[in-house]
Amino acid sequence: EEVPLKTLYKDAFHIGAAVNPRTIESQRSLLKYHFNSLTAENEMKFSSVHPQEDLYTFENADIIAAFAREQNMALRGHTLVWHNQTPNWLFENESGGLVESDVLMERLRSHIQTVVGRYKDVIYGWDVVNEVISDDEKDESAYLRSSRWLDIAGESFIAKAFEFAHEADPKALLFYNDYNESNPHKRERIYRLVRSLLDQGVPIHGIGLQAHWNLYAPSLDDIRSAIERYAQLGLQLQLTELDVSVFRFEDRRTDLVHPTKDMLELQAERYESIFRLLHEYREHISAVTFWGAADNYTWLDDFPVPGRKNWPFLFDEKQRPKEAYQRVAGIAAPT
Ligand code: G3I
Repeated sequence: EEVPLKTLYKDAFHIGAAVNPRTIESQRSLLKYHFNSLTAENEMKFSSVHPQEDLYTFENADIIAAFAREQNMALRGHTLVWHNQTPNWLFENESGGLVESDVLMERLRSHIQTVVGRYKDVIYGWDVVNEVISDDEKDESAYLRSSRWLDIAGESFIAKAFEFAHEADPKALLFYNDYNESNPHKRERIYRLVRSLLDQGVPIHGIGLQAHWNLYAPSLDDIRSAIERYAQLGLQLQLTELDVSVFRFEDRRTDLVHPTKDMLELQAERYESIFRLLHEYREHISAVTFWGAADNYTWLDDFPVPGRKNWPFLFDEKQRPKEAYQRVAGIAAPT
């Protein structure tokens, strides 16, 4: 018997999925049955909703918001400030040079007012700033990723984004979101950033751990240490983009059309130990969102090897529960 994950975990945390207008159709019943939270995979990003200064395009974002309203599901907003999927016009003046900092910040404020304001009734929290910490371990002075945001406005764009979001919807929970979040080195950088925002009195309420993991990495010890470290900030934590790739990051093999039995068994064990840990820390964790729902569609089909199939979720290509689902269900099931 397939018990809904959202029911099994209702006293622990939300169970979420990233969706797009196509998966809302193709995975509709699965989403309704197991999940009580949604995130737009691409549709609320800057380029998606605001491709030109005087043009907002909300059609796809509206489809996702309407589904969440209709199904009474929680909806997370993703994302307001990122170095990717952000249009060039934002950073440029009429002659194609970079704009001044005050112009960029005014454009950001106006964008945030419009987008956050539009979905105020249904979105309870936003990934306000996404992935601004650098992965470069060698250069300690450059702990922030280089970007046009940083070039133009310096570090202050980060605090400003949170302030604008808070102004646009004072009730919204505001998150800093990043990947490689369990790497000890990056973990300390993320900690330092959020600590300093809190010290400045910036409105920030949570940390998003993207959790793009695989069968082998990161280690459970590193995941545990990251959760404990971030919890010391006194903020709520969410896993925002969980998937468990069946390939090591360096593995570029392209010969598989199905996952091997070994992969599926390892994946089940891996998911079991991950959810055992998350359940243990449920007082700190308010949501666990997968970056998709079933193996028939995942961004990992195109990354890091374009066109290579991956099978990272609890449900298979036909949207039937995998062994990994059984293990995850078993942890929260009443005994
Ligand atoms: O929409 C165009 C389509 O018109 C075009 O024909 C096609 C050809 O490549 O591209 C389509 O755009 C793609 C877009 O997804 C929509 O499918 C982009 O190429 C592709 O790069 C883009 O990838 C998205 C990626 O963010 C961009 O960096 C993934 O779907 C999305 O899952 C991924 O999500 C991110 C989170 O936002 C932040 N954390 C990491 C996570 C995974 O990279």
